[in-house]
Amino acid sequence: LDNGLAQTPQLGWNTWNSFACSMNETVILQAAEKIVSLGFRDLGYEYVVMDDCWSAGRNSSGYLIPDPEKFPNGVADVAKKVHAMGLKFGIYSSAGTLTCARYSGSLGYEEKDAAVWASWGIDYLKYDNCYNQGEEGTPKLSYDRYNAMGKALNATGRPILYSLCNWGVDGPWNFAPTIANSWRTSGDLINVWDRENVNCPCSELLGLDCKTPGYQCSVMNVLNKASYYPSKSFAGAWNDLDMLEVGNGGLTDDEAIAHFSLWAALKSPLLMTNVMTSIDAQTLSILQNTAVLAVSQDPESSSAVRIWRYYVDGGEIQLFSGSLSGGDQLVLLLNSSPKAREMNATLADIFWSDGPGGTASEIQSSWDVYDLWANRMSNATANSIIEGSNNATRPINMTALGGSESVYK
Ligand code: DGJ
Repeated sequence: LDNGLAQTPQLGWNTWNSFACSMNETVILQAAEKIVSLGFRDLGYEYVVMDDCWSAGRNSSGYLIPDPEKFPNGVADVAKKVHAMGLKFGIYSSAGTLTCARYSGSLGYEEKDAAVWASWGIDYLKYDNCYNQGEEGTPKLSYDRYNAMGKALNATGRPILYSLCNWGVDGPWNFAPTIANSWRTSGDLINVWDRENVNCPCSELLGLDCKTPGYQCSVMNVLNKASYYPSKSFAGAWNDLDMLEVGNGGLTDDEAIAHFSLWAALKSPLLMTNVMTSIDAQTLSILQNTAVLAVSQDPESSSAVRIWRYYVDGGEIQLFSGSLSGGDQLVLLLNSSPKAREMNATLADIFWSDGPGGTASEIQSSWDVYDLWANRMSNATANSIIEGSNNATRPINMTALGGSESVYK
């Protein structure tokens, strides 16, 4: 969407996966304080997004009102406090009669809802697909529902990042880029690395049924759907592979590293959804890997693409690559099976044709290779950040890496 927002994939934190309907203003403000004090804000994590379950219906004039128990001081007050911390504040609704948790939805109330959110200082809308009167799988009708809110947000005159949560709509990248800043590509990601799940990939290309709400996806389910269409995203309009499950249990350290690296390489928004007040050192050192964040936020790069995938000995290996600014190149080699294995790829896998830089073999021999995880902060350093004794010094120095790239000239 050409509204000047999300020129790189949005970074932030969302209440849903860790708090669901148990969130309230204390939960949000405590998380926001941690996002600042642990250094996430300074690394670019900007949006604090309040998901489902915040309202208490509508007043007699049809305007949404915040739940007075969860928000005794109102939502505008929370937005003001979040802004005072140098962060932006997001809200949630659904392009249906109800939200997924059966709170008031926005279908038919787009102008009123957008106007009230703008008056509260809202900077971001996550817009879900529940209770949509059976239209979730129909791209044309979905376009109309989502476009109506996009127009209403635009009419407020306030810059509001517009994030579609259009699970179940097949091929959202065919209609969403002109009306939204990001769109979901699958059902909900849960904190599971891989599992058989016929519903999650939800692609008619694969002959699957996309109309079942509530299907859940593993990291590999989402990846193997997402990598069909990486080229459909661009500055201001991103494929959303769903929130990061880093720090929520369920993934090993290696799996969490792979998950974070893939989401960055594929240019998904990076929305944390962990319990910030009890974050551990391992989680912090993944989410704060500045080299990987620089790949996500590279101003000139586009989504990496899958070069190859094949099955070996009970598991799968995949190679992704993508260009970065300054003529650099990202390479990501994934072992998606739980079994440790040695993997090989050569620069000939990535640079196979002659180009302005010379012949293919000249190009292949002109690269230096850097490991973006080699400079991961140590547990000791991450712990001292969590304990608040080392906030002034960021442990990873990008300049020392020679750039943000895994392979660079
Ligand atoms: C479905 C979405 O995919 C989730 O991320 C979350 O927003 C829930 N709905 C809230 O009900």
